[in-house]
Amino acid sequence: MNLTDPFNRRLSYLRLSITDLCNYRCNYCLPNGYQGKAKPDELTLPEIETLVAVFAQNGTRKIRLTGGEPTLRADLPDIIAACRANPEIQHIALTTNAFKLGKLFPQYRVAGLDKLNVSIDSFQPETFHKITGKNECHHILNDLEQILADGFNNIKINTLLLKEHIEQTLPDAIEFVKTRPVTLRFIELMQTGDNFHFFNQQHISTSKIEQTLISQGWQLKPRDEHSGPAREYYHRDFAGGMGFIAPYSKDFCHSCNRLRITSQGKMHLCLFGGIAYDVRDFLRNNDRAGLSQFLHETIREKPEHHYLHDKKVGLIRNLSMTGG
Ligand code: GTP
Ligand code: 5AD
Ligand code: SF4
Repeated sequence: MNLTDPFNRRLSYLRLSITDLCNYRCNYCLPNGYQGKAKPDELTLPEIETLVAVFAQNGTRKIRLTGGEPTLRADLPDIIAACRANPEIQHIALTTNAFKLGKLFPQYRVAGLDKLNVSIDSFQPETFHKITGKNECHHILNDLEQILADGFNNIKINTLLLKEHIEQTLPDAIEFVKTRPVTLRFIELMQTGDNFHFFNQQHISTSKIEQTLISQGWQLKPRDEHSGPAREYYHRDFAGGMGFIAPYSKDFCHSCNRLRITSQGKMHLCLFGGIAYDVRDFLRNNDRAGLSQFLHETIREKPEHHYLHDKKVGLIRNLSMTGG
């Protein structure tokens, strides 16, 4: 039976983090390095098979694999295939920093991946290095060109909106989508447990940039039932689109269709939600009926919206632990 919450939202989209580990050190996310367990107790492939099968039976139609950096798991092709083994699952998506894509993307495709979100916070090598701690700008852009040239274009780019860099990044971003059929979304910086000072220095809202685009002829796309949290714009002279993810704006949550599972098997009903519901025992014991019942009971607790507007508090965890 489909999972529906008390606000009549159908939870058809699972965001599954498969590792806390990341090989980048983005200054807004992991500036002090990895702070989780030295040996992360990640969900195993059989546990993931159980999880995905139960979610598929309960109305999940799209799974996004996230992290940390999900491509660090060597068994990612098997995880994708485990998702694909459920005919109910219509889309399998990956959010990645693209470090390993050049080598591994063909394997992910064969296993059944059909959507890709790639983080590129700058198109300038020096700035890219300053933000991520990595000198990978050229390599990632080249790999992305190859993936596009091979005919895969179900791609979105995520670019953090940072006060210090936006003047440089905006023209590069617009140029990038001129000829490439990808949507680039600017993400408003969110305050996490780790980045309080950084947030105060670098946070800007999306509204000024949206106004700039509108003045250049970009038009807001009407929303449909598949629209995610991004506000998307199109322009008749551009192959690609631009988008904005603004979690601090109102009405962000009314169409939420998401549930999140961490790489240790804890369920979060909201990105900003505090309670972690542990489902690992069900997975360890392959207790599918038990998990199904637990999901239907727990879904009643999904909050109507986050409380950022009222209390101005940020996330408790950083996003490397829940995968956004
Ligand atoms: P698709 O719509 O499937 O492309 O997903 P997405 O755009 O949400 O996926 P992605 O993993 O690329 O996430 C981009 C960013 O969106 C995340 O890092 C978060 O910053 C933000 N985000 C995603 N889901 C939510 C949500 O439910 N609530 C809030 N506040 N932010 C979210
Ligand atoms: N605020 C906004 N977005 C963030 N991400 C990571 N940390 C934050 C934050 N504090 C983004 C990454 C990536 C996506 C999965 O999450 O840039 O694109
Ligand atoms: Fe890693 Fe993503 Fe965090 Fe950057 S934002 S450090 S790529 S988890």
